[in-house]
Amino acid sequence: MSKKNDKMLMIPKIKLGIVIDHIPAGDGVKILEIISRYEEMKDVPITLGINYESKKMGRKDLIKLQIEFLAPEIIQHISIVVPGVTIKAIKNYEVYSKVKVQAPKVIKNLLLCKNPNCITNLEKESDTLFEAVDSASKQVKCAYCERIFDLSELEPIIR
Ligand code: CTP
Ligand code: ZN
Repeated sequence: MSKKNDKMLMIPKIKLGIVIDHIPAGDGVKILEIISRYEEMKDVPITLGINYESKKMGRKDLIKLQIEFLAPEIIQHISIVVPGVTIKAIKNYEVYSKVKVQAPKVIKNLLLCKNPNCITNLEKESDTLFEAVDSASKQVKCAYCERIFDLSELEPIIR
């Protein structure tokens, strides 16, 4: 190996996988935290880039996952906590598809209601359902007990 490269280690392009791009700087760790909660992700090689330069955003974070497929449930979970990221699928070193994921209007069976008296907490196996209060705010309303919560205070249901 040439001496020239001893002090440089670039994050390589991936052959096959998922790149989560356009993450607002500082939010990369939030997404990593979500991903790490899912059992199926525990052996996946992951790289996190923090404060990368971006023409559109100034600074951004970026995550590369060496996994063929990201479960829709995980994508939805990410879109709730950090809306607006772009999910790019890489195949044979090329960007094969791009999806910009926005915060969903309804969130079914992904979050637990914090109201201990809510039917969804009293009845085992009951579905949960939240509706966005409005697209800008980060608040949701439980469709069962009608209480309003900040998205950030609700615990996710993990299979
Ligand atoms: N990437 C990768 N491995 C590949 C191809 C791309 O890790 N084989 C990563 C690059 O490191 C980069 C991102 O995917 O972070 C680039 O995606 P691309 O859509 O090609 O870039 P742009 O078109 O510049 O992005 P955009 O216009 O969506 O900002
Ligand atoms: Zn409720």
